[in-house]
Amino acid sequence: MPEPNLDNLKTEAFRLIDSAADSAALEEIHVKFLGRKGELTLVLRSLGELPPEQRKLLGPQANSLKNLLEERFQARRFELEKKETDQRLTGQSVDVTLPVGTRRAARPHPLTQINNEILSIFQELGFEVADGPEIETDHYNFTALNIPKDHPARDMQDTFYIGKGNLLLRTHTSPVQIRVMEKRKPPLRIIAPGRVYRHEATDATHSAIFHQVEGLAVAENLSFADLKGTLALFARRMFGPQSEARFRPSYFPFVEPGAEMLVSCIFCKKAGCRVCKMTGWLELLGAGMVHPNVFNKVGINPEKFTGFAFGMGVERIAMLKFGINDIRLFYDNDLRFLEQF
Ligand code: PHE
Repeated sequence: MPEPNLDNLKTEAFRLIDSAADSAALEEIHVKFLGRKGELTLVLRSLGELPPEQRKLLGPQANSLKNLLEERFQARRFELEKKETDQRLTGQSVDVTLPVGTRRAARPHPLTQINNEILSIFQELGFEVADGPEIETDHYNFTALNIPKDHPARDMQDTFYIGKGNLLLRTHTSPVQIRVMEKRKPPLRIIAPGRVYRHEATDATHSAIFHQVEGLAVAENLSFADLKGTLALFARRMFGPQSEARFRPSYFPFVEPGAEMLVSCIFCKKAGCRVCKMTGWLELLGAGMVHPNVFNKVGINPEKFTGFAFGMGVERIAMLKFGINDIRLFYDNDLRFLEQF
């Protein structure tokens, strides 16, 4: 057999290794020289057939060339794989500076926010949340609250009656007072939020459906001073520490005495403005001491216990606090409005 020319083989192998375009091409070159039937493999395998002197000379050369080529292959393989990985990653790359599509943050409706704020102020004072049905009986909505049939006080609240029976949509949350006092013994302190209904034409300040929060405290020795202190504190918590509360006599059949609470106008600080109609004061809620007739109807002894009750409109407080001039905005579900709160 012809004497193999290791120098040529080496030159050719290096040239091919260095110019291999990718790792697949490199593997083919590896097979060509070092595979089972590779050029150098064949040389190594044929060493045994050579005469001893030639074998002595060629053997070490061929073996060291094999090691040299393997090293060269290894280095080139590493180079090519790195290049290919880089290319793949560049193709997949993510631009971390690209703005992501923004999501709108959800939040409670302004009425829900105010409702929750009212509840938590009273909960801190030890009032427990209670509730009652929106479809009420004539008894709970009126009679038990000292508003007998045909009493002119019924005209204060235009009512949606249901069918011919004695069912109606509650006109206020006060019936919850009765339901709670029927079930529980004093002392008690409850706060009752909920939806109420009145047969009224809708305008900027009236809605046939709106929301109230009712409060009731019953214990021995509760006085009008407790009512005033509690509600004045509520006003300061709701409208800021500078807020003043004022009470003036009013009539609700289920309380005696009855009162209306006013707060110093949050817009003009009592100077007089359009919102407070130049009076410096805003009407906020109705309140009073629980009427003995109401206690008698639920079996609580008015000689032993006294209590105060109050009721406020959530929409009214939200309109004052947020400076909203049309109640209908709460119900339109217009995001341009709702997103401001
Ligand atoms: N229920 C009365 C109303 O809706 C408000 C009120 C509640 C007044 C409790 C006094 C005591 O107008």
